[in-house]
Amino acid sequence: MKINTVVVIGAGTMGQGIAQWFTQQNLIVEMVDQNYEFALISLDRIYQSFDKLAKANKLSSDDVSHFKKNISVKKVDDINTNADLVVEAIIENLTAKNTLFAHLDQLMSKQTIFASNTSSFSINQLSQAVNDQRKRNFLGLHFFNPATIMKLVEVVSGLETNPEILNFLFEWFNSKNKTACICSDSPGFIVNRVARNFYGEALRAVDVYDVEKFREVDTVMKKVGGFKMGPFELMDLIGIDINYSVTESVYRAFFDEPRFKPHRLQRDMVIAGRLGKKTGKGFFSYET
Ligand code: NAI
Repeated sequence: MKINTVVVIGAGTMGQGIAQWFTQQNLIVEMVDQNYEFALISLDRIYQSFDKLAKANKLSSDDVSHFKKNISVKKVDDINTNADLVVEAIIENLTAKNTLFAHLDQLMSKQTIFASNTSSFSINQLSQAVNDQRKRNFLGLHFFNPATIMKLVEVVSGLETNPEILNFLFEWFNSKNKTACICSDSPGFIVNRVARNFYGEALRAVDVYDVEKFREVDTVMKKVGGFKMGPFELMDLIGIDINYSVTESVYRAFFDEPRFKPHRLQRDMVIAGRLGKKTGKGFFSYET
């Protein structure tokens, strides 16, 4: 088994970071987005990031020119169909992901490993879009944001995934200075499941919109708990809408388990369009 060539599909927040990280591992990387112009913008951002790293003496100028040569933007029907790995990082929509995987299944060689960066869908459910043989090459690779920096990669096994592929990727990521863990295909995998209570209990503790209380909980979690960010500022960073939909999805997947129940404050913030940093207002205000 080898990983020399990778196709990353979806050039948004995660896809861009994942494509950059693979390029920095000296692989040949192709990046695809349904919005071709947007993928070109993402490529330009990756170039800028390489230049910044060179300025900070973290990359040599040889590295930069080598990396820039090794990453390209493609339309889905023009990708290298013999790529070793495809990482899907498109929007969190089941129909969109299944349609894409069904198409890729027709397009790609039998050996290509298929991975999804989904936060909340089941790998077994996603792999229904591909043929039985491919199901053995199908798994989750859940990166964290920003993918170039965050070390953890959850390597998620579906029921049909070939254990040799899981072990190979586990070793491969660990050899590339990531911290990989193999986890089973259960809702939220590990981090998003454990983190539900980090957010959920904080929301239940404050219960109503109260900026001073949000700040107090965040301060305690940082100063005493040792967390880098408190739950409210972290929800603002992730996007309250994204966080709410992951909570809903984990809650439903555990048959309405009360521990994972979303809080009405999350829903009310989403209805009001206060989605966090990206809209300038969330639990806190970011307007200048
Ligand atoms: P995003 O909204 O920033 O980017 C998604 C991209 O996918 C967009 O550029 C869109 O044009 C493209 N796209 C949509 N349908 C497509 C298709 N059929 N073919 C090709 N491109 C298509 O989303 P983001 O945040 O990058 O999330 C991507 C995936 O990563 C989701 O599954 C999400 O749950 C997961 N994820 C997100 C994290 C985060 O912190 N944002 C963290 C870990 C996982």
